[in-house]
Amino acid sequence: MQYFENEHIKYKNNQLYVDDININELAKEFGTPLYIYSKNHFINQYQEFENAFKSINHKIFYAMKANFNLSVVNTFVKLGSGVDANSEGELYRALKTGVDPSKVILTSVGKTKNEIKLGLEKNVLMIKAESEEEIELINKIACEMNKVARVAVRVNPDVDAKTHPYISTGLSSNKFGVDSKTALSIYKRRKDFSNIEFTGIDMHIGSQITLIEPFVEAVQKLSDLYFEIEKDGLKLAHFDVGGGIGVSYNSEQSFSINEFAEKTIPLFKKLDCEIIFEPGRFLTANGGILVTEVLYNKKNGDKNFVIVDSAMNDMLRPSIYQAYHHIQPTTKFGNRNDIVADVVGPICESGDYFARDREITQSNSGDLLALTSAGAYGMVMSFNYNGRRRPPEILVDGNKYDEVRSRETFDHLIYDEKIV
Ligand SMILES: Cc1ncc(COP(=O)(O)O)c(C=O)c1O
Repeated sequence: MQYFENEHIKYKNNQLYVDDININELAKEFGTPLYIYSKNHFINQYQEFENAFKSINHKIFYAMKANFNLSVVNTFVKLGSGVDANSEGELYRALKTGVDPSKVILTSVGKTKNEIKLGLEKNVLMIKAESEEEIELINKIACEMNKVARVAVRVNPDVDAKTHPYISTGLSSNKFGVDSKTALSIYKRRKDFSNIEFTGIDMHIGSQITLIEPFVEAVQKLSDLYFEIEKDGLKLAHFDVGGGIGVSYNSEQSFSINEFAEKTIPLFKKLDCEIIFEPGRFLTANGGILVTEVLYNKKNGDKNFVIVDSAMNDMLRPSIYQAYHHIQPTTKFGNRNDIVADVVGPICESGDYFARDREITQSNSGDLLALTSAGAYGMVMSFNYNGRRRPPEILVDGNKYDEVRSRETFDHLIYDEKIV
């Protein structure tokens, strides 16, 4: 079987560690399922990104949808990052970290009146608008509030990011943004929107993108539009290229951040404005694991099943994207054979699985397994189906750790209900 290891998540004397912390010990203290993150991995990824683009005027806005734990968001905020918030709930969370609202961008394909109002009330840096109707509404609300809304139009550049269809967002058949022609006509109509200042232009073509060409093509298309807008007399302050940089979950080769910088900086240098990036997955995915305990092994016909105490409600990615995560023991036993098995959770859905026909080390009831690359789009997508409580999250900082979210209690499961 294959093992995942990186600088911060690795085996020492056959025991899995996150930095200096032994995972078996942590699981004894907090139980399973259990999310564990390496703060230093997050910091290193952020600094690598920063360094790659240090020769240009740029800013990172961490896409908190990838992992919105307050301490995780705060880690990036303390490094100087802005935040990309995708709803009023995310905006609420972001502001709880103390981030300056002028370092927050408000995103979402369908913002409600309340979300727009909140964004304006808090004075966020920019609201990204995704349709003409939304722009009309932002203008109306800003007018009622006697404010000027700073807006970027999200452009759908119609580029195939060649990623999973559910996380591809830059094709004209996707719901996101407006096409270039519509975007241009909106910017040209700017005098019609008395309470909007168009300060930026934006795109986000998808997530887990491992090929650099679609990115470069999309940046090129957005630049062309930027220059047409400039020709029309409007100088934009921000050119936002979104997130989407892929990471390695298995054996896939993604482009490096330096390669990304090398290919795009010449294009960015032609623009006279700040370049905005909104990475999420790149910063957090490979800094997290989900630890689960093996409950049972069984065979149905020829098929082996390993039944674990974690389920699709804790980590949804395999069920909805057929996503791959390595699944490896937290203790390497030298005398175990590999088997081919499905690793499944206890939920009453056939889609509740972490791996199908996977070659893994044979494990016994009570053994612990780690699902790797679980730091992005893991805990944030968790839910309570089958009355399951969401797991705790531990943030490891070198040889220290904090429980940055505790396991939900049974009272959590019913706190907002009443019996009539
Ligand atoms: C607008 C926007 N920005 C940034 C991101 C972050 O993407 P990623 O985590 O792939 O970097 C997303 C994710 O879907 C997004 O929708």
